[in-house]
Amino acid sequence: MPAVITSLGGHVPEHDGKITFYVILCVIISAFGGLLFGYDIGISGGVTAMDDFLIKFFPAVYEKKKLVHEDNYCKYDNEYLQLFTSSLYIAALVASFVASKVCSKFGRRTTLQIGSFFFVIGVALQASGVNLAMVVLGRIILGFGVGFGNQAVPLFLSELAPARLRGALNICFQLFITIGILIAGIINYFTSNIHPHGWRISLGLAGIPAMILLVGSFAICETPTSLIERNQIDQGKDTLRRIRGTDNISAEFDSIVAASEAARQVKNPFRKLMRPSSRPPLVIAIVLQVFQQFTGINAIMFYAPVLFQTVGFGSNAALLSTVITGLVNVFSTLVSIYTVDKAGRRVLLLEACVQMFITQTVIGMLLLLHLKPTGSLGSTEAMVVVVLVCVYVMGFAWSWGPLGWLIPSETFPLETRTAGFACAVSSNMLCTFIIAQAFLSMLCHMKAGIFFFFAAWILVMGLFTLFLLPETKGVPVDSMAERVWKQHWFWKRYMIDDDENDGDKVVKG
Ligand code: BGC
Repeated sequence: MPAVITSLGGHVPEHDGKITFYVILCVIISAFGGLLFGYDIGISGGVTAMDDFLIKFFPAVYEKKKLVHEDNYCKYDNEYLQLFTSSLYIAALVASFVASKVCSKFGRRTTLQIGSFFFVIGVALQASGVNLAMVVLGRIILGFGVGFGNQAVPLFLSELAPARLRGALNICFQLFITIGILIAGIINYFTSNIHPHGWRISLGLAGIPAMILLVGSFAICETPTSLIERNQIDQGKDTLRRIRGTDNISAEFDSIVAASEAARQVKNPFRKLMRPSSRPPLVIAIVLQVFQQFTGINAIMFYAPVLFQTVGFGSNAALLSTVITGLVNVFSTLVSIYTVDKAGRRVLLLEACVQMFITQTVIGMLLLLHLKPTGSLGSTEAMVVVVLVCVYVMGFAWSWGPLGWLIPSETFPLETRTAGFACAVSSNMLCTFIIAQAFLSMLCHMKAGIFFFFAAWILVMGLFTLFLLPETKGVPVDSMAERVWKQHWFWKRYMIDDDENDGDKVVKG
């Protein structure tokens, strides 16, 4: 049975109801899932730059790093070191397929509970790791946590939020990711001076949000949509009353029931997704996620401390610069929450392309001209690199970061929404894995050219946005086909009536 997100994104019918304390509590607890995802993104770069960690698990990398004459760009090129970072994402990719089934069959709350179990076990294994196998296994289990958490949290937030706040809450998930990345940067900054177990503290402190999520996930309710979808109609109604803080819920209740029934008619949402009329939102969802990763953002998020050391900072200065980029990331995401429904999606995406293209190109040129394989950048040039990285992160954080998640959640019609969103999530995890696994080797082989490589991708994504990404701001979800795809010079060719012989009843989202 496909899961349902009622009227997520775009225009949504107004229903009665305030933001109750209970909703706030549930939102905060579930957002810890996003925070843990961000923490895992941000922590590994700092940890893999710590000598104590390298001596224990990657002695060869440590020896190489010590050699002053070693090529700057290749210091950290080690496939096992990259495997430490990337293993989480491949595990999350696999887990997200299982999680989407669990989410539909057993609900968002159960999915979150399973996810938080994985988080707790993964953290414990990593923090107490005595050999490489143990820390990598811990990271894989954390990846299962991310797979389950990322499937459940966005659905949970969207279904719990009063309709008028769904868009903003969707971006709050991204906000919590960025807060997690920032906290990880700050913790690494302090623990890098604690010898020899600073890295254990960095990895182990994730236990606090993981425990909060675990305990909290027993305190939160299941979403009314998930209950109704699983035929627990009365419970769904009670929960809706409780979270809205009013008895006047019949309009919203009826629309959830109708949406659940409509979605239930579609027996095979993935088959429906293969139809030509699903192509525009499907292609856009996948391509946005691929592009989001090929902006090169995670080269910065994962490896900023490594990168800053590469341009010649000492390890403390490198970690401090990482905290600065983390702060820029959080505050720029707030800009996005404020502007996205005013300026629109296309403006933000296109503006950011220009900003990111210029910064990546200039960083590439600076390194090409001034960073020799041995020796380091002058302090002025190194500062300029940090400033450019901040301007680059700023552009990403108010555009491709949140919108990479928001647009796929608002362009699919109801009957293919969760299946389509699952494709978006798995594309993201796959590309994140590729970047995590390949970046340090690419840096070693392509040297400064890596920045031109990402700049080239940014050019392509700018052109894609310009010609193939229609504006979806303020378009009602159920008018997306009529008002967006059928009007678009390119996508209209796929909007043929393909409902016959479909075997699935067609419903409007
Ligand atoms: C991306 C992550 C990235 C983060 C940075 C998210 O939208 O999916 O891969 O690390 O933004 O803030």
